[in-house]
Amino acid sequence: MGDRPYVLLSCSMSIDGYVDGVTDERLLLSNDADFDRVDAVRAGCDAILVGARTVRRDNPRLLVRSPVRQAGRVARGLPPSPIKVTVTGRAQLDPSANFFALGDSEKIVYCASAAVDEAEARLGKVATVVDAGQPVDLRCLTEDLHDRGVRRLMVEGGGTMHTQFLTADLADELHLVVAPFFVGDSRASRFVSDGRFPWNPDRRATLADVCQIGDVVLLRYALSERFCTD
Ligand SMILES: NC(=O)c1ccc[n+]([C@@H]2O[C@H](COP(=O)([O-])OP(=O)(O)OC[C@H]3O[C@@H](n4cnc5c(N)ncnc54)[C@H](OP(=O)(O)O)[C@@H]3O)[C@@H](O)[C@H]2O)c1
Repeated sequence: MGDRPYVLLSCSMSIDGYVDGVTDERLLLSNDADFDRVDAVRAGCDAILVGARTVRRDNPRLLVRSPVRQAGRVARGLPPSPIKVTVTGRAQLDPSANFFALGDSEKIVYCASAAVDEAEARLGKVATVVDAGQPVDLRCLTEDLHDRGVRRLMVEGGGTMHTQFLTADLADELHLVVAPFFVGDSRASRFVSDGRFPWNPDRRATLADVCQIGDVVLLRYALSERFCTD
């Protein structure tokens, strides 16, 4: 088995475990102080990964916002923001989406073999397209990122990605923020979907830290022996 980066999962959810609402409007689950904390976590990573549906639905920028943190990265010989990574089976991604259009760092698309030609045609000018198997295997993906120099990977959702990283036992740390409200609609996306998770009533995860940030709470879980507090 090859080396893989340290993998940190980051998610904010409602009290009832939803990560989004059901309207087209983006649901803000964090507050300003927590968005700034997430910015600091981003700045400490080599790459940020989101699933293709998050790219399509949220159109995230996935950049380090703070000029001070950007400058700190540049002083360390890094690009101002981490590499952006996404995963797709169908390659139905828009090259003008913020994910591709914003920021100078590399963008990598791990694409299922069947859609690689489509991905190259659509995204080849704005991203590195990698044939990642059918379907994309996340362990291989993490090993490939390690080969590309990524030592610390932040996974920012959505639920499909979190579920796969957790059930494959590829996560070292989880940052789970709970916002003080309910969504109350099962059509909305959840933090994770069904699966066999390594942490269960007989093998409880380690709660490493609890921190109140204004009206939200951050739960920090250590999920592997590699967990580190840096
Ligand atoms: N609150 C938060 O912290 C947070 C953060 C991020 C996202 N979200 C929310 O999460 C929701 C999106 O989550 P989601 O679970 O529906 O989608 P997702 O995890 O963002 O993306 C799922 C997509 O990723 C691709 N994919 C995933 N695993 C794959 C594999 N092994 N092989 C090939 N392709 C694979 C597929 O793309 P294709 O369809 O292109 O084939 C799949 O449809 C949105 O509502 C968003 O707002 C919330």
